[in-house]
Amino acid sequence: MTSKIIGTGSYLPSHVVTNDDLAKVVDTDDEWISSRTGIKERRIVDNEKEETAYLASMAAKAAVEDAGISPEEIDLILLATMSPDQVLPNVACEVQEAIGAIHAVGMDLNAACSGFVFALNTAHAYITAGIYKNILVIGAETVSKTIDWADRSTCVLFGDGAGAVVVTASETGSYEMVMGADGKKKNALTCKCRPMNNLFLKGSELEYIKMEGQEVFKFAVKTVPECVTEVMEKAKVTADDIKFFVLHQANQRILSSVAKRLNVSMDKIPMNVDRYGNTSSASIPILLDELNKKGLLQEGDKLVLSGFGGGLTWGASLIEW
Ligand code: UT7
Repeated sequence: MTSKIIGTGSYLPSHVVTNDDLAKVVDTDDEWISSRTGIKERRIVDNEKEETAYLASMAAKAAVEDAGISPEEIDLILLATMSPDQVLPNVACEVQEAIGAIHAVGMDLNAACSGFVFALNTAHAYITAGIYKNILVIGAETVSKTIDWADRSTCVLFGDGAGAVVVTASETGSYEMVMGADGKKKNALTCKCRPMNNLFLKGSELEYIKMEGQEVFKFAVKTVPECVTEVMEKAKVTADDIKFFVLHQANQRILSSVAKRLNVSMDKIPMNVDRYGNTSSASIPILLDELNKKGLLQEGDKLVLSGFGGGLTWGASLIEW
């Protein structure tokens, strides 16, 4: 028994923020952002309706429709996010209500930009253990609310969005996974947005996303090729057997460097970071949905998904379409 993706969906807010728009707010320009990151524009929520739960529910509805199953057949909703709307309830339970998945258990998972891959791997584990059959896996973020809009080194990088897949038990196909974490590097990427309100402790400062960009860059260009290679070795396949490497969309230069280290052509590394920026845990399922909707994925195609980010965390999944 293995697991297979049978449906994909995504949702992007309609409000487009270009590099020129940001140049009016902070000391930056299109040339710097484009050449250092490949990002030209991103989507940012601009109305109260578009909370993380709304983005997630829209992506989830689309994925369930694409899968051709009823929401009532979903056993578990696993939602990866680092930008939930509140501490409680979790976003997955909000999605459960919004899409009518009345029989589903709902839980959130936070592994920053690795979140979707971790959630997909967790779904695979539940399915192969025979515990659940149909699992909705979502990556959803409104990163915009965790950003210091006066900090040019981070505010130009991120965007909002959500992507979702339906995973089901299958007797055919293959799946391998690799995951890792290094808490020693926890300070490379942080967001302490929630103020403490304990009567017996001093309140802490509200802090937004802080990143040691070069530290994370160096980590990404070394670790992603390593974990992608490891997952291919586990599956006993080579890069030639892989149709696409669907990698977390953080920076075009990271993707090019990974391609070089893996010795694969950029044709195999699809990109949409130019249009959506870094949407954290949502970037991989959004890209997967684009590939699926363009008809680029055929049954039996092998794909490697790989995410990396805060924690530090990293992971890869080798899946068969
Ligand atoms: O999804 C989570 C994972 N995150 C990532 O993968 C991010 C990884 N890191 C990166 O992608 C890159 O490190 C960045 C895109 C964040 C930064 O690029 P960089 O080439 O590492 O630039 P830098 O941080 O070394 O900064 C170079 C210069 C600095 O000025 P000085 O000190 O050389 O005068 C910065 O102050 O660029 C300046 N700078 C900017 N200038 C214009 C930083 N941000 C901006 C900006 N516009 N937005």
